[in-house]
Amino acid sequence: MEDRNVAKLDGKTALVTGASRGIGRGIAQRLATDGALVAIHYGSNEEAAKQTVAEIEQAGGRAFSIRAELGVEGDVDILFAGLEKGLSGRPLDILVNNAAGPPGGPIEETTREAFDRIFAINVRAPFFIIQRALPILRDGGRIITISSVATRIAVPSQTSYAMTKGALEVMGHTLANALGKRNITVNTVRSGTTYHEHAALLDLPGVKDFMVSMTALGRLGSPSDIADVVAFLASDDGRWITGQVLDASGGIYLGPR
Ligand SMILES: NC(=O)c1ccc[n+]([C@@H]2O[C@H](COP(=O)([O-])OP(=O)(O)OC[C@H]3O[C@@H](n4cnc5c(N)ncnc54)[C@H](OP(=O)(O)O)[C@@H]3O)[C@@H](O)[C@H]2O)c1
Repeated sequence: MEDRNVAKLDGKTALVTGASRGIGRGIAQRLATDGALVAIHYGSNEEAAKQTVAEIEQAGGRAFSIRAELGVEGDVDILFAGLEKGLSGRPLDILVNNAAGPPGGPIEETTREAFDRIFAINVRAPFFIIQRALPILRDGGRIITISSVATRIAVPSQTSYAMTKGALEVMGHTLANALGKRNITVNTVRSGTTYHEHAALLDLPGVKDFMVSMTALGRLGSPSDIADVVAFLASDDGRWITGQVLDASGGIYLGPR
């Protein structure tokens, strides 16, 4: 009988974008716990990225950090220079596109610059990260992208953000069909309201209670709720799932409660 305690990702490598904090940190920690060598990408917060790497190493895992601001000229080149250095010739097994900019406000307040910027970070960057990863991504590898329930719940202050996440969900579906010939699976995990130390909006009076009241499972999500779903898709157990959007939200806003 298979030993279920054996780390499922031993010998594998992973890149998690936006892994310095929040959900990305949780995903990176889980993949490292499962045995993968994890590249911790971040944009600006070096201290937080170092802390993520240190926590992984203290727990017996392996990780290294890469700084690259996404959504600007040359972003993918900088990211992959750091990735390829850290991997030292090893292929990539798991790519998790998690980094994203926050919702930019209602349509009346959204400038062309802000619109272009959120699309550059949330859509253009993941698309070209995948394009650039394909030559080093092992056949049988995994591409997992983090979306949001904003694609199915209409929040007026999140229109441009929701549009970026909608684009990612479509990307996953079509790329899965294109990359199946290499046995690469492509899936999207749709996060619900996920509480972590930087989710400042949720600390505003009444917001947490309101979100909980709309959630079938009656609590806010945590990074590990999302990380466990990503780890499943990244593992051999997830080999037969591709082109899907998994709603990992505890059943937020399923209907009247
Ligand atoms: N938290 C939620 O309730 C929730 C709900 C639905 C969906 N999501 C999705 O889940 C993912 C993670 O969310 P989160 O709440 O954990 O995010 P977060 O705490 O804001 O962390 C964002 C991460 O992405 C990096 N990042 C952001 N903009 C970047 C840029 N321009 N260039 C490079 N790196 C950048 C940040 O690095 P630095 O700090 O170093 O810049 C950080 O590591 C996102 O895709 C988000 O849309 C979250």
